[in-house]
Amino acid sequence: MRLKYDVDTKILFQIGDPLDQCCATYLHNALYEFCNVNAVNLSVPVPKGGLGDFVKAAKVIGAAGFDLTMPHKSAIIPFLDECDPASRAFKCVNHVKIREGKLIGVGLDGAGMGLSLQYEQGDIGGRHALMIGAGAVAGPIAADLCARGVKKFTIVNRTVEKAKYIADTLREIYGADTTYGPFTEEYLSQTAPDITLAVQCTCLGGGSHWQEFPHLGFVDLLPKECIAADVLYPTTTFLEAAKSRGLPTVSGKGMLYQQQLAMMEFYFGVKLGPDALAEAIEALEVAIALRGVRNERRAELASMSR
Ligand SMILES: NC(=O)c1ccc[n+]([C@@H]2O[C@H](COP(=O)([O-])OP(=O)(O)OC[C@H]3O[C@@H](n4cnc5c(N)ncnc54)[C@H](OP(=O)(O)O)[C@@H]3O)[C@@H](O)[C@H]2O)c1
Repeated sequence: MRLKYDVDTKILFQIGDPLDQCCATYLHNALYEFCNVNAVNLSVPVPKGGLGDFVKAAKVIGAAGFDLTMPHKSAIIPFLDECDPASRAFKCVNHVKIREGKLIGVGLDGAGMGLSLQYEQGDIGGRHALMIGAGAVAGPIAADLCARGVKKFTIVNRTVEKAKYIADTLREIYGADTTYGPFTEEYLSQTAPDITLAVQCTCLGGGSHWQEFPHLGFVDLLPKECIAADVLYPTTTFLEAAKSRGLPTVSGKGMLYQQQLAMMEFYFGVKLGPDALAEAIEALEVAIALRGVRNERRAELASMSR
């Protein structure tokens, strides 16, 4: 544990509202310590509409940056001096660094999945990607895949206009070859034989709810070399179907860990190798456990005061 902070300590924040379910502050502080970076991260609830005041205050105190969760991920965009085109287009910025009074924003969800795929499966350039879902994480992931050499995309979604938006944006920014369609068994089956990377980006088929992923028949039509990836973890019905076909699979856990490494590089220029992954995994698990203890104590105190 760092025992003292001094005038050189960089101050960073995690902001959002509510922050009850967030544990990024524990995680970030553990990684700062692991990398011997003289910095501290503090959780600050900032309500909707409070972003302007927070930005002014952060500049006045010389903060080095802040990461954002709901409801600020897209509201921050007008305040930024610099932002990559994909994070701006998909309105998904979750980290901001402040340098010489300028706000530089980035979304790292996409990098998390791209780095995880690369780490677990090697070079993915030249593949034809099927993006299943077109919610907040799908666009940034597709953009990161583009940057890693994936130039052909099929995007499917229940709400087809959202798939169209991603397809149009990837074409405009990266010159990618894109097509889109409905999230139906028929469309998925028609597309499957050409796909060499399938990325499941909906909230279906995983987690404690195991909400049904309705169309799994297409998995049988994917080629043997197709990588099946999912934003959810530890496993999902999609990943299980892919595994039973013998396809290589990548769960969303790596996406979560790799974002932490990308975050250290973004804020501090610290490039961590794969050996740091174990540290990120441990830090995350400790962070989740500490969040559980904190929330239990809060609930206990609340029931005692009733
Ligand atoms: N591993 C990680 O590090 C990581 C990071 C971020 C997020 N995630 C996970 O990624 C998942 C998606 O996050 P998000 O922010 O993109 O969520 P989101 O913006 O709410 O998008 C949800 C997606 O799921 C689709 N969907 C939801 N219910 C459906 C249903 N009954 N039938 C068909 N499609 C349905 C939505 O389709 P419509 O557009 O038609 O509504 C949309 O494509 C979440 O479960 C989140 O926990 C993981």
